[in-house]
Amino acid sequence: MSHPITVTITGAGGQIGYALLFRIASGAMFGDTPVRLQLLEIPQGVKAAEGTALELQDSAFPLLAGVEVYDDAARAFDGANVALLVGARPRTAGMERGDLLEANGGIFGPQGKAINDHAADDVRVLVVGNPANTNALIAAAHAPDVPADRFTAMTRLDHNRALAQLSIALDTPVGGIRDVAIWGNHSATQYPDLAHATAAGDPVTGLLENRFEGADGAREWLVETFIPRVANRGAEIIEVRGASSAASAASAAVDHMRDWTAGTQAGWTSAGVVSDGSYGVPEGLVCSFPVESFDGAWHIVQGVERDAFAAARIEASVAELAEEREAVRALGLI
Ligand code: NAI
Repeated sequence: MSHPITVTITGAGGQIGYALLFRIASGAMFGDTPVRLQLLEIPQGVKAAEGTALELQDSAFPLLAGVEVYDDAARAFDGANVALLVGARPRTAGMERGDLLEANGGIFGPQGKAINDHAADDVRVLVVGNPANTNALIAAAHAPDVPADRFTAMTRLDHNRALAQLSIALDTPVGGIRDVAIWGNHSATQYPDLAHATAAGDPVTGLLENRFEGADGAREWLVETFIPRVANRGAEIIEVRGASSAASAASAAVDHMRDWTAGTQAGWTSAGVVSDGSYGVPEGLVCSFPVESFDGAWHIVQGVERDAFAAARIEASVAELAEEREAVRALGLI
């Protein structure tokens, strides 16, 4: 058997942690490679993480090489090949955006530094905790020795939600859909883009026109139903389930890391990656793009045409990311 991959998961005692750890230990994220899990919690969350660690032992996963719980970032990130930053400070009633960014800066700055100082040279980081894009930006800014492209933010759940909504609308299997994209911020301003998507090889645009009786009907479904449904799905889940998305978020994290390490097989997916200036997105912002993974790295898909509507929506979401960067800069967090 190969050498174990060391995976550090923050917020491991929370609800995403509970859905995520068992999938990693089962081999869903890294295939037939053993994993060592290092769980980081704040002191109040340690007991919950320890309970989850006991259940991981009781699952007798053949690929689980060990599990440890820490409340100290330096130890938790020691030797990490993969860091899944799930724990974050949630927005509470009456909290302004600046307060939220500041509270999370206090988490993701020190964690970025701990990754810089203690993780393995090949570390790959996925930020799940919200506001995910800007938290990733903050963490990367505190890790000058780690190449910036190793820091990513999760928009795969948005991507998967878009696939699911399209699959339902067209009554076509998810597995046959290719080249959907999420652009921008993991927030309600994101732009889910179907303009280049195909289903079983057929352009989705034509399929939607058939389904919704012409171009106007298809456009109305896209603008009035599809885009807001995907962008606001998190709120819908909270309303129906009484708690925020957990298993689907964990599943998206599994998809993101599996594709990053093993490569994408079937066209585009979406990930928040550090912008290299592609599509006019200011360099350094952690922005969701259509991406492919090969040679162990994410690559932004180039040359994707966007009509005026798409370009305006993407610009608005990118502007929100730029504002968030300005706000954390003003707070001295980067
Ligand atoms: P949760 O509240 O159930 O668990 C969060 C855990 O993080 C808690 O156990 C808490 O003690 C821990 N934590 C807080 N600060 C920490 C720190 N400094 N170090 C280590 N652990 C810390 O929350 P849940 O449902 O697991 O969600 C986690 C985050 O993921 C939230 O920020 C949520 O908004 C975000 N999220 C992101 C999604 C995405 O698509 N990017 C989708 C769904 C959730």
